[in-house]
Amino acid sequence: MASTSMLDDIKEVLFTKEQMSETVKRMGEEITRDYEGKNLLLVSILKGSVIIMADLMREIKIPAEIDFMAVSSYGSDVKTSGTVKILKDLDRDIAGYDILIVEDILDSGKTLSYLMDILSARNPSSIKICTLFDKPDRREVKDIKADYVGNIVPDEFIVGYGLDYNQKYRNLPFVGILKKKVYEGSVSE
Ligand code: IMP
Ligand code: MG
Repeated sequence: MASTSMLDDIKEVLFTKEQMSETVKRMGEEITRDYEGKNLLLVSILKGSVIIMADLMREIKIPAEIDFMAVSSYGSDVKTSGTVKILKDLDRDIAGYDILIVEDILDSGKTLSYLMDILSARNPSSIKICTLFDKPDRREVKDIKADYVGNIVPDEFIVGYGLDYNQKYRNLPFVGILKKKVYEGSVSE
């Protein structure tokens, strides 16, 4: 059971609010440098990337457009099943755009692999991945690699700064490891 105080459910803080700002600033600098003169369209994958998107776009100092996509993956709350479904598609045709997918975390790789497949088929000028976190120990799709990574994280379930467990904890300003007892007993595959 989750307690009424979100803080009680956190085992350990991995990245403070200040560290998150530093990470996003660094990523913004890299993207600003690499996309100079390009037709940049940031594609935020809802809902997990909503915080990084809002912060990252303000650290990008060149013209950029934004769009949003929502996908759902069926499976338990702490694991992706690999079956991905589009809940909300992009508003526009992406042909001719330099697409940068902005995701919260690269875990098994199934979600991003699916997104890369469907978006590449729409003829963008280029397509790359920016992920706030990478959990390489859990990778199942071996050929998926992020071009911009905020931080590598261990094989633990993390929440905060957009990342959820059961749709909660997204509003924590820092990132922490969720106590196992919060999700123990939840339905798993
Ligand atoms: P993948 O398809 O297994 O790579 O899963 C990616 C999605 O799983 C992310 O967009 C998150 O929504 C979710 N996810 C994976 N690991 C975590 C975690 O540690 N905390 C919160 N969400 C996670
Ligand atoms: Mg999620």
